[in-house]
Amino acid sequence: MTKKFYITTPIYYVNAPPHIGHAYTTIVADVLNRFYKLMEYETFFLTGTDEHGDKIVQAAQEAGLSPKEYADKISEQFQKTWPRLNISYDYFIRTTSLKHQRVVQYVLQKVYEAGDIYFGSYRGLYCIGCERFYTERELVDGKCPDHDKPPIVREEDNYFFSMSKYQSWLIEYIEQNQNFITPERYRNEVLGFLREPLEDLCISRPKERLDWGIPLPFDDRYVTYVWFDALINYISALDYPHGELFHKFWPVAHHLIAKDILKPHAIYWPTMLKAAGIQPYQSLHVHGYWKIEEGKMSKSKGTVVRPLDLVSVYGLDAFRYFLMREMVFGLDANFSEEALIQRLNADLANDLGNLFSRTSAMVQKFSGGITPKWITPKGSAHDEDMLKKCDETKKAYVVAMEGMEFHKALIALWELINRANKYIDEVAPWELAKKGDTERLSHVLRLLLEVNHLVAVLIVPFMPDTAEEIFRRLGSPKRAFDVLWSRDATIPALKEGSPIEKGEPLFPRVDLEAWRRRKEKEVKTVEERKLISIEEFQKIELVVGTIVEAERIEKSKKLVKLKVNIGETRQVVAGIAEYYDPSELVGKQVVLVANLKPVKLMGVESYGMVLAAGGPEGLVLVSPERPIPVGAIVK
Ligand code: MSP
Repeated sequence: MTKKFYITTPIYYVNAPPHIGHAYTTIVADVLNRFYKLMEYETFFLTGTDEHGDKIVQAAQEAGLSPKEYADKISEQFQKTWPRLNISYDYFIRTTSLKHQRVVQYVLQKVYEAGDIYFGSYRGLYCIGCERFYTERELVDGKCPDHDKPPIVREEDNYFFSMSKYQSWLIEYIEQNQNFITPERYRNEVLGFLREPLEDLCISRPKERLDWGIPLPFDDRYVTYVWFDALINYISALDYPHGELFHKFWPVAHHLIAKDILKPHAIYWPTMLKAAGIQPYQSLHVHGYWKIEEGKMSKSKGTVVRPLDLVSVYGLDAFRYFLMREMVFGLDANFSEEALIQRLNADLANDLGNLFSRTSAMVQKFSGGITPKWITPKGSAHDEDMLKKCDETKKAYVVAMEGMEFHKALIALWELINRANKYIDEVAPWELAKKGDTERLSHVLRLLLEVNHLVAVLIVPFMPDTAEEIFRRLGSPKRAFDVLWSRDATIPALKEGSPIEKGEPLFPRVDLEAWRRRKEKEVKTVEERKLISIEEFQKIELVVGTIVEAERIEKSKKLVKLKVNIGETRQVVAGIAEYYDPSELVGKQVVLVANLKPVKLMGVESYGMVLAAGGPEGLVLVSPERPIPVGAIVK
């Protein structure tokens, strides 16, 4: 029987378009999906959007759309973004789909009939942003920890799920299953929550307050609480209860989330499954938060990082590589564009790019651009060491990937790349060519080509496009999804006689210094654009004048000498010769900056400046809307 792997991301709220945080989780899911495919598993990759609840209704209202129209619009943005990041999901679930709604109602009915849902009255502290009731001890200084706002008191008759009944079962289950929640710090955090008595979960909302949700099958005056609805996506997408996918991929589910939604996934979800008589998922993998300059991403501060903006500047694979290399799964990480450029230049352009371009250039030069014959290395310490490194890297890589330590997998891979670059210096193929040792030379080149091929196999999950490009240039073209560990991660893998293409650099370098200078300028512009007081503005003397004379300044394409009557006659030089003929200027009223320090332009004194605006076809003079006595103050 083939091994199976089912990977999910959270289903994202449709109240904002995708940002780098969503992109990270979804790229991790894609990397894992590609890795397990490479490892010859049968996989299923699920993502989607969470579309019910107050939050969506509010966001839709602000956008002037109905909840459905709004959900359609934002959900589409998610669906369109993922393929552009080379994320290949198998199914995109929407909680507004009929298929999902039916399963939610089926589960509710089942749990209700089993006696684990009861009707009761609840009075509690409710955060509108979170759409849930809070206990006193969960609040921080009396406020919701996520929204920093005090909750409101709300009393309601509602339906409750008997979650508390499953508390001791859950504790035992987590204790007995080491990998149920990873990394360990989050497992401990959950066991920490569970030291306090668990309360039952309110799972309904009266329709009169919120009707954008799934009606309860046993009482249509109510809709389902959005978390109870959303979590079920992980099985509705598999066509629970009778679908083939469900039988195939449940319970080998690996749920990926960030730490913000630990509690619903680690506590609500397993108890819901237990109550519905469904086996628990296999693992919950929890990662940290991407922060921007030590802070949270914030729309109002303009610090939301949009994935597609970065991809269009730095390239897709550089972006994917950076996210996976920079964050230690489980911990928070800081996002900075500068760090991305540094990694792009050092790891990708230098280490990986150079290894490929040096290898392929030498094959062009010393082997006619053709893959030489494979000879099993004997007696060369360098070769043996190189091959040993390949083996060690493969092992370390698999262990790290299975342990969700992506940065470690990449570090191991980069050690191999650097070892190979060093191997080139050690064996100095150019010296072998000089000596005429063609047999050794072709052997060394073949070994190097094989190492490049292995590197391409190992980057398949992270940078599928680059992997495919390397395969193509190595004369071994294949699609990333077709690469199989047992067949392709072995040496030798290439075919003797295949043509090798050097091509353009795999990763063009980014000029970091130029980037810094541009940024500095941008920062300055922002600083210079700081608001000024009215007093500061009043320092500028703006007056209305009438042009009484105008003539071109000899030898200048741009300048005209004007005499402007502002109650006195001022000589002013203006850079408008390309847009106005001197004859049409005479008689025009203009606005003059009257207290500028005099300057000499092309040898002509200028005692002020006329205002002009830059339009698409050049400069246009700024004039009073109606004639006005000269000398009038502009304020
Ligand atoms: N709709 C719920 C999830 C329901 S799952 C059954 C939700 N949606 S969300 O749009 O707010 O997405 C939260 C998830 O987005 C996080 O768990 C994480 O996967 C991702 N991230 C959002 N911001 C993030 C960062 N700043 N950093 C890393 N990941 C983040 O919660």
